[in-house]
Amino acid sequence: MMRLKKLTRDLAREGILPYLVSSLPNIEYLTGFKGSYGTLLIARKGPFFISDSRYEEYAKKILPRGVEFVLQKDGLPNAIREVLEKTADRALYLEEHSLTLGAYYALKDGLAKVKLLRGGDAVNALRVVKDPGEIELLREAAAITDRCVEHLAGFVKPGLTEWEVATEIEDFYRGAGCRGSSFSTIVASGAGSSMPHYDTSMEKTIEEGDALLIDMGCHFRGYNSDLTRTFFMGWIDEEMRRIYGIVREAQEAALEAVRPGVTAGKLDSIARGIIAKNGFGEAFGHSLGHGIGIDVHEVPAIRAKSPFRLKKNTVITIEPGIYIPGIGGVRIEDMVLVTEAGREVLTHFTKDIVVIH
Ligand code: GLY
Ligand code: MN
Ligand code: MN
Repeated sequence: MMRLKKLTRDLAREGILPYLVSSLPNIEYLTGFKGSYGTLLIARKGPFFISDSRYEEYAKKILPRGVEFVLQKDGLPNAIREVLEKTADRALYLEEHSLTLGAYYALKDGLAKVKLLRGGDAVNALRVVKDPGEIELLREAAAITDRCVEHLAGFVKPGLTEWEVATEIEDFYRGAGCRGSSFSTIVASGAGSSMPHYDTSMEKTIEEGDALLIDMGCHFRGYNSDLTRTFFMGWIDEEMRRIYGIVREAQEAALEAVRPGVTAGKLDSIARGIIAKNGFGEAFGHSLGHGIGIDVHEVPAIRAKSPFRLKKNTVITIEPGIYIPGIGGVRIEDMVLVTEAGREVLTHFTKDIVVIH
């Protein structure tokens, strides 16, 4: 309720009430509702949560006091109209990033007398700064992933398929009390490791001499972790050793620069500068990282030229990589909390070169 109160106060100050929250992660953040269908309408007179009969009993049980449940019986526009008639509102501000075009036109057609207005992205902006409870959950999600990657270093061997490794990760997470992985696990061996978002193969086996890039994370009590390490099977050649050293230097330099007030663009340019200086600028195509919390990717994006200034208690990833098509790639990714004094890295697994024998 504290989050909802703060949001309502901010929206009232900016004059953007009533406000329609349609993103489910944002609704979860504000109310604790974890279902697959619902809409939150924050009116001047208070918050209304609209959902259908599948969620009536559950929602009434978990919604914070003061949030009124509205049973949707005949489409969302009618349920919204019912609320707006009650609160005597003639306009509605819409959360911009989450409403589909289809949903927008359904509202436009179904609420002919209501003025639909752009409402910006207020909830995502609030979510950037984590509270102590959220930080604890992110810390725990990171710790589970650390334990999992430790386990993997002893588990992976030539002859296993990439899929078998991904399954081991999933089983580990379930056993540790997680709902599962926070995204589709990437286990990329050999030449596959040059594709940053490689599609883990059911058939491909891990071979001696492969680089093995594993990008993994868990979903623990509503919060996500995200970590990448690149192992080497049996041996590592000189070129890969050099590439690994450059990625590690870039990753650690960017981590070192994390503190309140630094821009996301500056972090990106620190890592990218080191990679470019060593001649691999073209081989690092993606952005440096992202915020993480209820969503595995959330605000802020840590990308080139971003003027976004980091805030205390924001959690982000730092994940540079070098990818050589046909040969292989290296990425190193950690989660880091922005603290008053600078930073606290939440994932701890070694970044020394790990050669698996
Ligand atoms: N696995 C996606 C990412 O690291 O952002
Ligand atoms: Mn990742
Ligand atoms: Mn990531």
